[in-house]
Amino acid sequence: MVGSLRASKEGLDIVEQARKKKGWTKTALTWCEKALTTEATLKRFWRLVPIQQESFTKICEVVGVDWENVVDENFSLPTGTPRIDWEQPIDVSIFYGRKKELATLEKSVFKDRLAIVSGLGGIGKTTLVGKLWENIKGKGEFEYVIQRSLCNKPPLSELLNDLIEFLSDDEEKTGGIFQLMGYLRKQRCLLILDNVEAIMSSDKLAGFFCPEYQDYSDLIKRVKAEQHKSCLLLISWERPKDSVGLLGEKVGFLRLSGLEQEAQELLKAQGLLGTDKELETLNKLYAGNPGSLKLISALIQELFDGRVQNYLRSGTIVVVLNEILAQHFSRLSDLETKIMINLAMNSEPSSLSQLIEEISSQPASKVMEAVNSLINRSLIEKISSEVGEVLFSLLPEVRKYVKSKFVK
Ligand SMILES: Nc1ncnc2c1ncn2[C@@H]1O[C@H](COP(=O)(O)OP(=O)(O)O)[C@@H](O)[C@H]1O
Ligand SMILES: [Mg+2]
Repeated sequence: MVGSLRASKEGLDIVEQARKKKGWTKTALTWCEKALTTEATLKRFWRLVPIQQESFTKICEVVGVDWENVVDENFSLPTGTPRIDWEQPIDVSIFYGRKKELATLEKSVFKDRLAIVSGLGGIGKTTLVGKLWENIKGKGEFEYVIQRSLCNKPPLSELLNDLIEFLSDDEEKTGGIFQLMGYLRKQRCLLILDNVEAIMSSDKLAGFFCPEYQDYSDLIKRVKAEQHKSCLLLISWERPKDSVGLLGEKVGFLRLSGLEQEAQELLKAQGLLGTDKELETLNKLYAGNPGSLKLISALIQELFDGRVQNYLRSGTIVVVLNEILAQHFSRLSDLETKIMINLAMNSEPSSLSQLIEEISSQPASKVMEAVNSLINRSLIEKISSEVGEVLFSLLPEVRKYVKSKFVK
């Protein structure tokens, strides 16, 4: 972007002092209005993302500082440098395994228009995408990369304004899907939206948006179906229904499961003591979920001085993902909960026909829909039996959670 400026770290300190004196928040509306800019630009200013010179000088001027003392003089943007605006930088300095997943995802974001990463909370979705970016940022594939979390449930119009401002190099402040599609055609962009589940409905089966966020569904459909050279990467607990691609459509999907062998390295790095076999058993109990493994490691440190054997001997599974699982379960329909309880009570994996038979109060089609929804939510595991039959089961931590919450 020609004529764009970025603050230096010291410069930001000066602005910080000045804004405190004025009693303004970092994104105060008055500040935006006086500087004739938007909240999104002001946020970028704070994140040290280059913004247009005109906005930069105004932002400094109205808070009462000289922009020349704020600007990073050593900063220049050589032509061809990608523009990046990552809302929540992710630390991937400690990262284990995921070679296959990274290769699959890289292929997908390079060739697909829409890519989805789904999986349980704590399984490592956000971290995987952070690592992906670290791996590909030197490859010069994308001209614009923007990452946003939907945690705060932004209405689509707000998100679109934010994206368009960035993709237009601050030339445009607002726009709709039509304008966005223009930018996705004109330049090669990678748009990353994390925590998409925040705007998905919790009183339907998996994969539907809340009524007030239905327009996100249009966005997904258009990004999937129209010609352009960019990729929208969604990170979510559930895969949105509209993101399912038909044969030939440029859609990539990765359902993330647990770490395998590499989890042992993670456990050792957490300071746990045990034989490879013990670490493997611990990993299996927590189905390789790195979020769970980190939490259980802390507990084993405290209660067993890090000795895995002593924890395993206790013969119990401590549910460490309580809060996350509670959020997942709060989204289930009655029938889905019933199926979960049924699976928790069966010590052996169940087949679909067995589930249909056992839940005879509901028509078979409803049971099938609900099982499908639970697979989408990554709450049930699919296993192929030796005779080629598909069986369903629960991960040990999930089973324990269901039993403790729902079974008297
Ligand atoms: N491959 C990995 N290697 C090491 N730690 C990981 C890995 N994947 C995830 N983690 C750690 O596990 C925790 C949960 O990961 P996160 O990416 O936030 O999960 P999600 O986004 O699926 O909820 C974080 O503390 C993260 O650092
Ligand atoms: Mg995440």
